[in-house]
Amino acid sequence: MKRDGYQQSIWQYNKDDYSSLNQVVSSEFDVIIAGGGITGLSTALLLQKAGKKCMVAESHTIGFGTSGGNSAHLNTFFDSPYYKVKENFGEANALLLAQGAQQALELIKNNIAEHQIECSFEEKDGYIFSLTEEQDEELDKLVTNTREVHLDINYTNESPLPIPFRKIACIKGQAQFQPVDYVFGLARAFEAAGGVLLTGCRVTAVEEGDTLLVSTTRGAFNAANLIWATHIPPGVNLLHFRAAPYRSYVMGLILNNDEYPQALAYDMEDPYHYYSTHNIDGQKYLIAGGEDHKTAHEDNTEECFRRLDSYIRKHFDVKEVSFKWSSQYYEPADGLPYIGRLPGNGENIFVGTGFSGNGLTYGTLAAITLSDMITKGDSKFMTLFDPNRVKPVAGFSNFIKEAADVVKNLIGGKFSGEKIKEMADIAPGEAKVVKYDGTTIALYKDEQHNIHAVNPSCTHIHCTVSWNIAEKSWDCPCHGARYSYTGEVLNAPATRGLEVINIAE
Ligand code: FES
Repeated sequence: MKRDGYQQSIWQYNKDDYSSLNQVVSSEFDVIIAGGGITGLSTALLLQKAGKKCMVAESHTIGFGTSGGNSAHLNTFFDSPYYKVKENFGEANALLLAQGAQQALELIKNNIAEHQIECSFEEKDGYIFSLTEEQDEELDKLVTNTREVHLDINYTNESPLPIPFRKIACIKGQAQFQPVDYVFGLARAFEAAGGVLLTGCRVTAVEEGDTLLVSTTRGAFNAANLIWATHIPPGVNLLHFRAAPYRSYVMGLILNNDEYPQALAYDMEDPYHYYSTHNIDGQKYLIAGGEDHKTAHEDNTEECFRRLDSYIRKHFDVKEVSFKWSSQYYEPADGLPYIGRLPGNGENIFVGTGFSGNGLTYGTLAAITLSDMITKGDSKFMTLFDPNRVKPVAGFSNFIKEAADVVKNLIGGKFSGEKIKEMADIAPGEAKVVKYDGTTIALYKDEQHNIHAVNPSCTHIHCTVSWNIAEKSWDCPCHGARYSYTGEVLNAPATRGLEVINIAE
């Protein structure tokens, strides 16, 4: 199946693209949802079952983005631990968040049971362990506060991993599944309930009014409500300054022995490593990941895989790396996601973003929150996740300031093929950004030695894209738009591809 990068995740391997009915019998909907990942489809299914007439517009295919490239951990705790949520948002909200996490896992279980989704769902314990004295203190706080929100966490002496630790705690009630099978199951259930699912359909513009006029690459539709479930919405919005794009690296490995962890596990490094075991077609795989960094802030993304590989080999007897892939997520400014009304827009435009590395749980919790807001006008999580909330952003560096220079030049015209070839003195599969007559050009040489030239000015708000070696994509450091080497949009917030530069023969 297609995905938003060159590498293939273990979940996407050997899968055909989801085959949608792609039916439209009306141009009027109660809700249009842009994005066919776990957030969009979970929300669409809840709303359709509640009697709303829904359409999901997915610009590529189901499971193309992070829903097909995540690490498959389903947790009741988050990257932002409960003690930090308590400090920033108060004790009652930390408790509410824990209830939300459990409600999200319950919804996943109910969806699997009700719609008979075969997705290898397994409940497992989760282990969190410290490696330094400083981390011991952090773990103490984490255990105390996780207990305070009524989750079952206790210190133990045994680890599921062959990694030396100082302290380790076990939290009950965590889970894992095959995320592509799950989102395919949601899509099937949504279509069976009468929902319209259009793949290859990008929302390109929204005209506000009592009814929204939603333009897409497959025609225009009217809708009472619109939900952006595309990680980050297009346009320029407050959220582009409050959620920063990050990438995480994951490997699927076969071991020489049977030291596969029978649980989910996490160290407390920054960025942390995460571990699990999946049995796929009779073969066990250690799934391990980490090495996260801000999108387009790492010169050589292959190095991230190398570092992860050597870290894993320090502790596991690796026979083979069968899969490796990276994936994108958004880190919120204050530790909690933004779910609710899109700032600066009308009452009927919604968003869910800033899920950190907890997209499966938060995507499902977003579905619960947004569907309640649309059907009942209210949700118990509405205030906690309000995208318009103002919180101090201490420790959160403004990624706009760190962004690469904005490319101001507009290209147009043709460039001498000979000169371009001369500048593209790179090996097949490599890319570079060059200057030509004062103009910046991004070049990629494919395996057949063809040169692909694009304008590196991101079509969102014109930061300069950087080459992602491992995923063979042009990534924007500002808000995370990503493009293929031919300039096609892979990830929001861009809605237009990079300008293709004509090379004269
Ligand atoms: Fe905003 Fe590129 S994603 S400028």
